[in-house]
Amino acid sequence: MKNIAIIGTGYVGLVTGTGLSELGNNVICVDKDNKKIEKLNHGEIPIYEPGLAELFKKNYAKGKLSFTTEIQNSIQKSEIVIIAVGTPEKEDGSSNLEFLNLVVEAISNNLNSYKIICTKSTVPVGTGKEIIKKLSKKHVEGEMFDYVSNPEFLREGSAVSDFLYPDRVVIGTNNNIAFKIIYDIYSSLENSNGIIIKTSIETSEMIKYASNSFLALKISYINEVANLCELTGADIVDVSKVIGMDHRISSQFLNPGPGYGGSCFPKDLKCISYLSKSFNTPMYTIEGAIKRNNHQKKRMVRKLLNLFDGNLNGCKIAVLGLAFKSNTDDVRESSSIDMINGILEEGGIVNAYDPIANDSMSHIFRNINYFNNIYEAVNAVDGLVVMTEWDEFKSLDLKKIKNIMKDNKILDTRNIVNMEHLSEYGFKYDNIGRMKL
Ligand code: UDX
Repeated sequence: MKNIAIIGTGYVGLVTGTGLSELGNNVICVDKDNKKIEKLNHGEIPIYEPGLAELFKKNYAKGKLSFTTEIQNSIQKSEIVIIAVGTPEKEDGSSNLEFLNLVVEAISNNLNSYKIICTKSTVPVGTGKEIIKKLSKKHVEGEMFDYVSNPEFLREGSAVSDFLYPDRVVIGTNNNIAFKIIYDIYSSLENSNGIIIKTSIETSEMIKYASNSFLALKISYINEVANLCELTGADIVDVSKVIGMDHRISSQFLNPGPGYGGSCFPKDLKCISYLSKSFNTPMYTIEGAIKRNNHQKKRMVRKLLNLFDGNLNGCKIAVLGLAFKSNTDDVRESSSIDMINGILEEGGIVNAYDPIANDSMSHIFRNINYFNNIYEAVNAVDGLVVMTEWDEFKSLDLKKIKNIMKDNKILDTRNIVNMEHLSEYGFKYDNIGRMKL
């Protein structure tokens, strides 16, 4: 059991802090956002993550989990300090490390005893070395601190299970004592496959970027194959299923869609692309994945326009799904943003519905209509677009929808609406990479 301070209480920090308290550690979650900390201390969780509330309540009640804005004291009281602040992208695609550097400064000013300094935030390869240099200006590495890179692989919407049942835990460090200390806090997650991996700091940092950029590459790849299927009469659903039967490819992350979103893929791909160019060895595959993704979002708007013969002016469109994926309320870089912008730019009117992300999207779009019920959202509309793969959109009552819509256009950007039913009820529809019936 260790005393741990985790700095940054966003998606990653809150789930990781709660998870580490569940593993038996005393965890102080620190954030500069007073309102967020106040809400957390009143049991209000600012994010939607299945399973988080239960672990939060249990460990908060046991006193294993606490929340504060007080960073100095939290660092001083802890044996391990985990940095989990945001590293957003800059205009040029590089990482903005200003929040991280402020935390490193605070750590340097409050190293009152030996501590492990652990970065969980996604940082460019080489950042760990820079942090060691900064801390070494005032403190002796190995005596007052050792550094560890410990990237996260949490997916929004399944972050708690990803923490408790990880495919791998990566511990990047050049010090065996530090490795052992961090290994011990994760040891209860170890299994017969030996998932806790020791690497160098740079290797650990690269693993994070290589993982995310490969996953995003897979998505852009299957989207390009889907687009080609549309032009050649092939069916992407069967193509994806059958290539995924090759264990070297796997069936995961081969679902074509409106383009990937979220707070990680877009940022991480720009960062690794920037990093590769800074070493004069551009990653053309990643540049291609980024380019495809940008086009894919625009392609969805074009598909909707085509259903309306190029004229959306005055048409009312229901956008079903606002979150960048199902099981989250996060709309960051969601393809729904591009779709809504596209409809508005073409003079259309938007009725928006998402099971939980309406509030998040209302901070971006105030000039659209929000509904808390699918069928109210689609009432008297000219068309509807399925953008997020929520389960409830997989079993739409198309007969009822046909009767309450004003016109009959449907765009399914996730291939989750039954095509036979769309055809049977006389919808004019489009989806991705499939031959219409
Ligand atoms: C991702 C990584 O999966 C996770 O390991 C990392 O720690 C953080 O970034 P996340 O961004 O939460 O997680 O979502 P993810 O489930 O990866 O989906 C990202 C985007 O890809 C979503 O917009 C999703 O709709 C899209 N996607 C995913 C597809 O379009 N097709 C797929 O087959 C899978």
